[in-house]
Amino acid sequence: MTPSPQLSEAAVRTSPAAISSMMQMALANPGLISLAAGFVDQGSLPAEAARRAMEAVLADPVEGRRALQYGTTIGDLGLRTRLIEQLERNERVPAGSFRGAVGRTVVTTGSQQLLYLITEALLDPGDIVLVEAPTYFVFLGVLETRGARAIGVETDEGGLRLDALEATLRDLKARGLLSRVKLLYTISEHSNPTGVSLAEERRGPLVELIKRWSGEQKILILEDAAYRGLTYSGAEPPSVWRHDPAGDTVILARTFSKTFSPGLKTGYGILPETLLEPVLRLKGNHDFGSGHFAQQVLERILVDGTYERHVQELIAVYRRKRDVMLGALEEHLGAWDGAVSWTCPKGGLFLWLSVPEGLDTGPEGPLFARCLEEGVIYVPGALAYAAEPGPFPRNHARICFGVPSEEELNEGARRLAAALAECFDAVA
Ligand SMILES: Cc1ncc(COP(=O)(O)O)c(C=O)c1O
Repeated sequence: MTPSPQLSEAAVRTSPAAISSMMQMALANPGLISLAAGFVDQGSLPAEAARRAMEAVLADPVEGRRALQYGTTIGDLGLRTRLIEQLERNERVPAGSFRGAVGRTVVTTGSQQLLYLITEALLDPGDIVLVEAPTYFVFLGVLETRGARAIGVETDEGGLRLDALEATLRDLKARGLLSRVKLLYTISEHSNPTGVSLAEERRGPLVELIKRWSGEQKILILEDAAYRGLTYSGAEPPSVWRHDPAGDTVILARTFSKTFSPGLKTGYGILPETLLEPVLRLKGNHDFGSGHFAQQVLERILVDGTYERHVQELIAVYRRKRDVMLGALEEHLGAWDGAVSWTCPKGGLFLWLSVPEGLDTGPEGPLFARCLEEGVIYVPGALAYAAEPGPFPRNHARICFGVPSEEELNEGARRLAAALAECFDAVA
């Protein structure tokens, strides 16, 4: 028998990706409507705009070869400059306001790599990261790999609750654990999984609160703004990062995966000066620079206005899908008013469904099984909760409205309602 390799502790403690079995189910059963997949709308991927940008990059042989060569670990200066200019427009500040941040901007292989790098730079096993309850479940996996402790903080319709955050920090201090708290992770815009954004009036106070609780041990805020840009009603408030003009407390993570193309797998982070070198050293070990060609393509679409035009088109597509999903839920689940509810996101790709407390939405529970029989799947909400501080709700589901067609959204809601009706009948 061939002996197995002795895996590292990090590999051993890393569980299989919770969602991969669901992806398998969807692939194995073509009739299944997946309200689970967190992909983007296939029909609006910008194939033509990407082709034009790629041709333009390759049109000049010298520039073309440069694009096909390795780049730098931090990312191309040209792209980083454009990213900051675009951020200034997005945050509606005068041109040049954030120029000083170009040198602290790191281009990464999707924002996921940035999230990983930040945890790699900051966390030893046993260190504590405060996360929203619920949060982006893939980030919980990253923390598991690092051996860090994720502690959930209550949220409401305005996102992270600052009173709950302060209570958690007070409790950790009383238990002598404050010095292990390194990071607070927040998804500020149209969160994955709930679709809820952090209320504008909480953003400044959040930064103040974290600064106040940073003693000898600095606590950083990791603002994951993956869905910023995809706002379907109202204006986007200033980011949390904006409330940290000194730039020493908030790390801003952004990505082009949702607003342009996940296939280009390009994101970026703006880091406090103190984190820059450590993160670049680690990134050097990962890949010594993200795909250079994709960076050139992105720079091109930012410069010629393609990107902003595409985002406007995308907003129209997703706004319509969101409205179709909300309409279908109202039509098929509205009769259970009070017992079944859902968030009405102002942007992003997700909404959060809540069913009565006793009804377990987990993969082993009755609703998931009945949904499979009906031919629809969702992501069980329990996956999105940190194990601490204790028992978490099991009666939620993440619904993604970004991928299915309008007909599938309607039919998916109908099947979900049929499965729910069977569960209710079973307990009646
Ligand atoms: C909240 C959040 N953050 C980060 C990411 C990572 O995306 P990417 O690495 O493609 O930028 C995702 C992807 O789904 C996400 O939902």
